[in-house]
Parts: sequence; C-alpha cells; structure tokens
Amino acid sequence: MKAFLLIIGLLTLNISTSMAQSTADFTPHLIKTRNTTQLLVDNKPYLILGGELGNSSASDTAYMKPIWPKLKKMNLNTIYAPVYWELMEPQEGKFNYSLIDDLILNARSNRIKLVLLWFGSWKNSMSCYVPEWVKTDQSRFPRAEAKSEVKQEILSPFSKNNMMADKRAFVKLMEHLKNFDGVQHTVIMIQVENEIGMLPDARSYEKPASAAFEQPVPGKLLSYLKDNKSKLLPETKDIWAKNNFKTNGNWGDVFGKSLVTDELFMAWYYAIYVNEIASAGKQVYNLPMYINAALNRPGKKPGEYPSAGPLPQVADVWKAGAPAIDILAPDFYNPDFKHWSDLYTRSSNPLLIPEIRFEQGVDAKVFFAFGNYNCISFSPFSIESTEKPENEPIGKAYHIVGQLLPLITKYQPLDKVRGFLFDKDNQEQKITLGDYILTITHEYKLGWSAQAKDSVWPQTGAIVIEVAPSEYYVAGTGVVVAFEPVSTEKRAGFISVDEGYFENNTWINQRRMNGDQDHQGRHIRVAVNDYSIQHVRLYTY
Ligand code: DGJ
Repeated sequence: MKAFLLIIGLLTLNISTSMAQSTADFTPHLIKTRNTTQLLVDNKPYLILGGELGNSSASDTAYMKPIWPKLKKMNLNTIYAPVYWELMEPQEGKFNYSLIDDLILNARSNRIKLVLLWFGSWKNSMSCYVPEWVKTDQSRFPRAEAKSEVKQEILSPFSKNNMMADKRAFVKLMEHLKNFDGVQHTVIMIQVENEIGMLPDARSYEKPASAAFEQPVPGKLLSYLKDNKSKLLPETKDIWAKNNFKTNGNWGDVFGKSLVTDELFMAWYYAIYVNEIASAGKQVYNLPMYINAALNRPGKKPGEYPSAGPLPQVADVWKAGAPAIDILAPDFYNPDFKHWSDLYTRSSNPLLIPEIRFEQGVDAKVFFAFGNYNCISFSPFSIESTEKPENEPIGKAYHIVGQLLPLITKYQPLDKVRGFLFDKDNQEQKITLGDYILTITHEYKLGWSAQAKDSVWPQTGAIVIEVAPSEYYVAGTGVVVAFEPVSTEKRAGFISVDEGYFENNTWINQRRMNGDQDHQGRHIRVAVNDYSIQHVRLYTY
C-alpha cells in the first residue's frame, strides 16, 4: 500500500525519472517537478545560499580557520571550495585527502554544505593545477597548440593520456567522498573542471586536433542534431541551416569554415573529455555535476575570449557530448545579469550561479534570481574577502531567503513565485499573480527619499509568493508593491499587512503595518537598505 501511494505521489508531482533517484536514497540529487528542476538535499528541496572561496583559501586548513565564522555571519548555507589535483595526487598514484577531510569536518561543525570544484585538467582555460608529474612530462601529457604552433599551458583535450590521468584522480576523489561522506552528505554537488576555454585561438592546432578537424563530424553529434532539430537553440540551428542541414562531411563541410565552427568543434572535444571524467565519477558516487563558463564579452570573436566552454552559443554541443553533466552554469563578472540568465535558462537548463562578482547589488539579485529564474544557487566569488561580514547586504538577503526557502521551493513548481530587480533605468514592473495585478517599483520612484534625486540608484529587488487566494508574502529590499484585482472594477484593500519572520517554518507576526508603513492601505513598502518579509492579506471593495 505504501509503495502504491509513493508511486501515485511521484506521478502526481510529474517527477522526471531520468533525474530522480529512489526516494529512499538520500544522496543529493536533482529532480524535475513540473517545469522546475530542484536540488534535493536530505530528500528536501534545497537552495544554495552560497559563496565561493578565493582560489587559494582552501589549500590550507589553518588559513580557513578565521573564515568559517565569517561565512556563518553572512548566513551562508553552502560554500564552493576547490579540490586541487596537484595537492591531492602530488606523486602519480599516491593520493592525499587530508585537506578535503578537514574541509568536510569543518563544514560539518559549522553546519555548512559544500560544493567541491575539481581543479583538474583546466582552471580558467589553463592547466595550472595539474600535478608536477603531469606538467613536466609533456611527451606523455601533451599540450594544446595555438595556430602559431606555440604550445600553451593548456592540456590537450585530444590526448587520451591526459583524460585518463584526470579521470583516475577524479574517480579516486569520488570514491573517497562516498566513503567519507556518503552518509552525512556534506558535499552536495561537484563542479567538473573550472571555466574551460581555449585561448588564444577558437580551437587548438596540435597534430591530433588538426587531424580531428578534417575527420567526419562524429555520428553521435549528428544524431543529436537530427533527433533534436526542432528544439535546437537558434545559434546552433542558424549555423547548421546556413549549410543546408548537411548530415555528412567534416566540420567545415557540415558547418562551414568559420571561427564559429572552430568553437563548435573544440566544444565537442572538451565535452566528450569531460563526459568521460564525470560519468566515471558518477558511477562511483552519483552526485549532481555541473560545469561553469567564463562569459564572453560582447563584440569579441571566438579566440578573443576563452572559447568553447559551456557558453550559450555551444550549449547544444555540450548537451550532446556531455550528458553526464547536469547543468551548464554561468560565472557572472559581466553586468547584464538578465541577458545571460535568460540565455542560460533555455532548453530547461536550470540557473545555477557558482560565481558572481561580490559587489554592490548582489543582495538585490538574490531575490530576482530565486524568484524569477527558479535559480538553484547564488554565490558571490571570494566571499571571505569581506572585513565586516555582519554588515554585508548579501548576508541580510540570505537571512530572508533562508527563512522563505520552504515556501519558495514549495510554490516554485506551482508557478506562484516571482522575482524583481530594479535600478534607475528599470523602475517598475507589472505582473499578474493569482487574482491580482501587482505593480512593483523601485522604492525611490515614490520620490520620498532624498536619494531619489541621485543620478544612480542602488539596485533593489524582491520576491513575491502567492500562498493562497488573496494571500502573499512579499520580501526584499528597496521596493514598493501595489495590488489591484484582475477581474473586477472594484479596488484592492489590505485586510492586514504584517512584518515578521519564520521560526522553524512557522510564521511569526511582529509589526502590524497598516498605517504609515503601508501608506494607509495603498502599498507595501520596504525601504532601500532595509530587508523585510511582509505577510499580506487582501480583499476588494
Ligand atoms: C573566475 C574563476 O572561475 C575563479 O576561479 C577566479 O579565477 C575568478 N574568475 C577571479 O575573478
């Protein structure tokens, strides 16, 4: 009977079986619930309120000691921390896990989860973290070459030796994690490599690379393109269409000779290399795995930016070549947050942000990312660099989203969560949610604040959740929200507006806001630099 009810439950939730593991398996995993991909940790939906450590911090346990309290003060529930191949396998076949174990034990005692970053063959294009015995034996572990035939400090993805050496170490890591952490699940996800990307050309030119370029396009890629023709991203479709959707010939024949083709070609060979590593690791310990990309700057040609990483223009190739990778993730060092988030959420790719510049406005983006994109993770880079963690806006935003996590993850799949981001150029948005039209604006638009006259306004953001007809939670910073009914000439009024907080998932009312705070029933308001959750109940008159 229990099993029957479980099956009915799964069917009702429309969980995609390709991503779901057995519900009895508490290993962190991804599930698809309706149109939303969720990360399950201890079998409960989880949002990563994260931060990524600077590259070197996790290479020394003592250096990390004063960092843990800082992370707690910013209300992080997860950190992204590197595992360095060169320190884990200093001599070929001799593995040392002490740094990783210390990291896990300290994370546990601070009640923080970990996403581990495998700094293996590639880190920001380069191969700076490969062990000395790899670096110094270039005949066995060959390098990528530029068009000029100059060798790069980049392992060639066309070398089986390179891939096998990386794969063996990665499998060892996953075996160790399974043994050391397979019950407690402090490590919840793995990033495979870091910001893969070819430089200084769009593809590499060592002999095996050039030979592969003249070979027929692999059947596996062509089959993927044919089978998914109607769902291909416009970038892939366009370049293939220009060549009349040819299905045989070498790379130049099928896609035409161009830098775009060079990037596609290189992406394929990176993808199949990474797929070997990730799938071998998953066979040992099946944690979710993703890869991250350095976003190309607008107007730059392939080769002028780290090319062929998991970028939007080659995302189809990555999907075809690396099915063991669950998510393609953007690293945000580029201001156009919405533009890139829109690109990365195509083809059901969930938004997972492993890195974003730790700067003014990240707090506002937290509300927008989780509310608008059903984002799985938010994580400023070099999170430990702050001297005043207790004052960091990101900590205040995490404090709010942490309380709302059960509500957000419950109502995301039901399409009842929305997120907003404002600045001086984007001051207002109107949406329909449930029975009401909501007009949400930057707080300075009211004109009450002296700073409203400033030429630049701070970014502000909000998340709104409809929990029942005429009942919402509004949370965020620097916003004003007004309501009007969708389907009647009547007007909307507040039965009540209460500011409060969640304790053990129970809402506690604090301040009744029905006077000046909601402008005598006209709108909800959270001032700039203020962070608040307000429970709103409406009626019409
Ligand atoms: C992105 C990389 O992934 C990080 O490891 C780090 O190098 C940052 N860039 C530095 O801004």
